[in-house]
Amino acid sequence: MDSASIRRKFLDFFENKGHKIVPSAPLVLKNDPSLLFTNSGMVQFKDYFLGNSVAKFKRIADTQKCLRVSGKHNDLEDVGLDTYHHTMFEMLGNWSFGDYFKKEAIAWAWELLTEEYKLPKDRLYVTVFGGDKNDNLPVDEEAKELWKQFVSEDRIIHGSKKDNFWEMGEQGPCGPCSEIHIDLRPESEVKKKPGKELVNSDHPQVVEIWNLVFIQFNRLASGALEPLPDKHVDTGMGFERLCMAIQGKTSNYDTDVFRPLMDFIANEAGVNYTGSTEGKSDIAIRVTADHIRAVAFTIADGQLPSNTGAGYVIRRILRRAVRYGFSYLNFKEPFFHKLVPVLANQFKDVFPELHQQIEYVTRVVLEEEVSFLRTLERG
Ligand code: SER
Repeated sequence: MDSASIRRKFLDFFENKGHKIVPSAPLVLKNDPSLLFTNSGMVQFKDYFLGNSVAKFKRIADTQKCLRVSGKHNDLEDVGLDTYHHTMFEMLGNWSFGDYFKKEAIAWAWELLTEEYKLPKDRLYVTVFGGDKNDNLPVDEEAKELWKQFVSEDRIIHGSKKDNFWEMGEQGPCGPCSEIHIDLRPESEVKKKPGKELVNSDHPQVVEIWNLVFIQFNRLASGALEPLPDKHVDTGMGFERLCMAIQGKTSNYDTDVFRPLMDFIANEAGVNYTGSTEGKSDIAIRVTADHIRAVAFTIADGQLPSNTGAGYVIRRILRRAVRYGFSYLNFKEPFFHKLVPVLANQFKDVFPELHQQIEYVTRVVLEEEVSFLRTLERG
């Protein structure tokens, strides 16, 4: 299945279950002082969870552009060095605003993964919240019982607050969560060590793919948890990782989500991409392919690179890419901007905002890289 079909299947599946399909919100947040960027699918629905406004549809699904490069959720330093973290990624999500809760969220996630996408059941593990003394919260026995209908108990793992209690930021909607992890290692490796022992241990082929959050609280500035008037569901599935699993790859960058960019970069640099996590040129190709997505989509969503705030974060990402290209791919002339049309064409039907501003975004990236290359050349 190519990535477009994988995305389509997710949206169709939830549309058939009564969900309204909505567009992605912009990456840039202009009126939420608690966040610089949209870091997860639920951000655009925050006010529904908090009860500040009423959702027009009680069930929604979408694919959301997300950026995890600042604040509580920040993956920037891992990007390029490993094969499964990104600055900008797509999060497939389904939501219930005071409608269905754990039972349906769990049953549907299992149905979609195993019956529609046909992922092997014996490679899937699930985690549930193991409770937390400081917050006075119990083990999520309800989620555990529900999972037992689908997976044997030895595949259900108790997780800590760090992994199994989702919070949007220092403040805001939150709740216990249940994650689905997949073991993509070859059979010979699996025989030596069960995947269960590698869940949540940063193994590149035993990765979380889907997080089902059961939103029940608001974290206040004081740190206290305030129960919300209603219970909600917020799920987020890493689209690029899902494609890796379905397409039988061991790296997100080997899927058709990244191949057009990866091939273009390798070709321009005149190098072969081998997929290693050690080789500098391989790392640089991944960094460049990843970072253009964050930079181009953010500029298209209205954030110019600058010296402060969100603009500074974008400038730093752009410079990280240009520096890797300059140092390890021998790009001494402006190159990064050439990736904008490749990306825009690829995502024309998913996030058309980039394609609609292709010349503008290309020009902004070019100006930035020209000025930074001058600095690099001066040493
Ligand atoms: N908010 C959760 C996450 O980002 C699920 O969507 O992982």
